[in-house]
Amino acid sequence: MSLSTAISRFTGYYQRNGIGSTARRLGLAIKRVLFANRMVVFYRDIPSQHSPTAELPSSVVVERKRNQSEISAEDLHQITSFWNPMLAQRNMNERFGLGASLWFIKSDGNLAGYGWTLQGRTVEPHYFPLGQNDVQFLDFHVFPKYRGRAIDWVLIDQIVSELAAEGCKRAYGESAEWNKASLSSFAMTSFRRLGSAKKLTICGRTIVWWAKEQSAEQKHEAKKALVAMGGKQRRAQDPGQ
Ligand SMILES: CC(C)(COP(=O)(O)OP(=O)(O)OC[C@H]1O[C@@H](n2cnc3c(N)ncnc32)[C@H](O)[C@@H]1OP(=O)(O)O)[C@@H](O)C(=O)NCCC(=O)NCCS
Repeated sequence: MSLSTAISRFTGYYQRNGIGSTARRLGLAIKRVLFANRMVVFYRDIPSQHSPTAELPSSVVVERKRNQSEISAEDLHQITSFWNPMLAQRNMNERFGLGASLWFIKSDGNLAGYGWTLQGRTVEPHYFPLGQNDVQFLDFHVFPKYRGRAIDWVLIDQIVSELAAEGCKRAYGESAEWNKASLSSFAMTSFRRLGSAKKLTICGRTIVWWAKEQSAEQKHEAKKALVAMGGKQRRAQDPGQ
């Protein structure tokens, strides 16, 4: 995130929420930077033919928008006003400019959520280059009233079947490691965890640090070692035991 974006987000948040909430939000941001600063990268292969896993009820529709003129004023207001309108509009211009698609999921005519896809490239420097038939899934959002109903999963599933018909081969997505709702939603879909990483872009060059992933067996052994160490420490503190 650039410095100007960070400042704009900070001032926007302060104007909307006041000093108390802004201080708490800042504390949370610092905690995340210090203790949960990696992104979990997910991927899934897209079969040449993919029918949606679940048939949509007649009240639910998925719509694809390829430019801003296809979006109604009401929907545009909804997706730009809950966050930082200026940055949201800037992101939208940038993404449509790169050829991205914006997908809406609507329930009874109301916008329940949305997400972006971009083929063959990424909006920001990525962890690795994408192939021509690879697609980045980014910035998925379900409005609070509709959360916890697998709307994100339904939207992703519908998108994948449309992208399959267009010859896309692999999809990538990512989630901050602190974002439990997003990780949980990814776990429901056919996306698989590729790894977790940090990246930094300086003077047009991107440096990526991949975390060493532990197998389930390694995690179990590490846990056993920690428990054993805890036992030894307790005995050392209380030799009479
Ligand atoms: C991440 C997100 C898209 C998931 O959408 P969703 O359709 O609610 O997904 P699910 O129904 O699969 O729920 C996923 C998790 O959300 C949480 N959740 C459930 N009900 C919820 C509610 N009413 N309100 C908030 N979170 C809820 C739970 O942790 C749930 O996981 P669990 O079922 O294993 O407990 C949505 O929470 C969201 O828009 N979050 C804010 C934006 C964001 O973080 N986007 C992802 C990063 S790009």
